[in-house]
Amino acid sequence: MKSLKVGIIGFGTVGTGVYKLLQSFPQIEIKKIAVKNINKKREIENFNTELLTDNPYEIVNNPEIDIVIEVAGGVNPTFDILMTAVKNKKHIVTANKELLAKKGSELFQCAKENKVIILYEAAVAGGIPIIMPVKTILCANKINKIAAILNGTTNYILTKMAEKELSYETALSQAQELGYAETDPTGDVEGYDAAYKIAILSTISFGKKIDINKIYREGITKIKAQDIKSAKELGYTIKLIAMGQVLDDGKIDVRVHPMLVAKKHLLAKVKNATNSIMLSGYPVGDLVFTGAGAGAEPTSSSVVGDLLVLASDLEVSNSPMPLTVCRHEEYAEQIDIGDTYNEYYIAITATNNPGAIGLIGTICGKHNINISTIMQKGINEDNTAEIVVITEKSKESDVQNALKEILESDRIKCIDNLLRVMN
Ligand code: HSE
Repeated sequence: MKSLKVGIIGFGTVGTGVYKLLQSFPQIEIKKIAVKNINKKREIENFNTELLTDNPYEIVNNPEIDIVIEVAGGVNPTFDILMTAVKNKKHIVTANKELLAKKGSELFQCAKENKVIILYEAAVAGGIPIIMPVKTILCANKINKIAAILNGTTNYILTKMAEKELSYETALSQAQELGYAETDPTGDVEGYDAAYKIAILSTISFGKKIDINKIYREGITKIKAQDIKSAKELGYTIKLIAMGQVLDDGKIDVRVHPMLVAKKHLLAKVKNATNSIMLSGYPVGDLVFTGAGAGAEPTSSSVVGDLLVLASDLEVSNSPMPLTVCRHEEYAEQIDIGDTYNEYYIAITATNNPGAIGLIGTICGKHNINISTIMQKGINEDNTAEIVVITEKSKESDVQNALKEILESDRIKCIDNLLRVMN
């Protein structure tokens, strides 16, 4: 194999993991590493600090560099840097889910025009191979459904809430102390990270571009210890699920929200920071991919894997891996959440008066919502009662309308939560 010259942009946890793994592959020569802070002390044995620059354009404009590895993240200024790299005919290996979900379309178009390849196995579910399998060996399939746990931070928090009966706030601060959650956890706990990943995965699986702004997204911040407890009593656990499906009319339903997942379901068994992707297609049937969705070593497996695949293809051809080239021109017609059909978990606090359950049942019936389970366990000290309802499959807009009407009654104090259910 001839020697390929690479530049690395970003030298945090993942960048350092990539650097270390590349020491075992002498056919790849690291020419430069772009960092934010050139004076920061690096705990790497025999590290040559002359590799460092704080100007990423020294990499993307360097005529000697063949491939740019981007593990810096973010859209600004990374997008402009990568566009320059592509215009300079450099192939890209990136882990940047946010950039691909928001600006992938432009970047891939530019890559096509410049006949370069962009690989991004590490952008979705860290170390789990999913992009390459979908693009290559599964290409004979019509994939119609994905249900996945794509965010390790939230899965860790929800697992600890369930196992140790913690509040969301306590589980989050413990996750932050242990390094599972960032100081500003918004990107993870509000579902943005999972939304970027399901946008990328749905685009390549369903063959149509997904508009990130049309993905319905809810995070886990509203999950209460009481929801986890009620879910457990009813045979469920709560998970942040990213899903994508092709409906019978060809519309595409892509969303991220917490769900009650039946304990027997494979995704219910995925704990802590682990990620898992269930994918259904014809003719392959159901597939499950499970593993580490983050961390220096698993993520470097995907980055360096992409790099070595690209290197071996470049060995024999100047236009490598035609299967991985982005071909999607059309945008998907994405369905609005109000038009989706789901089973629901509804937690309601009622005042302790006769007729509250009757009222809930009557209003649900009026809105075409069939209740499958209703649970109330005694009366609280403040003379209120918690009522939990599980519905059969109902239309989201009907459920929202029913809840509005339920809330108008003076027998009802508040709607504590509305979650969707996966059996
Ligand atoms: N922050 C992500 C997670 C990992 O918690 O899964 C990187 O995408």
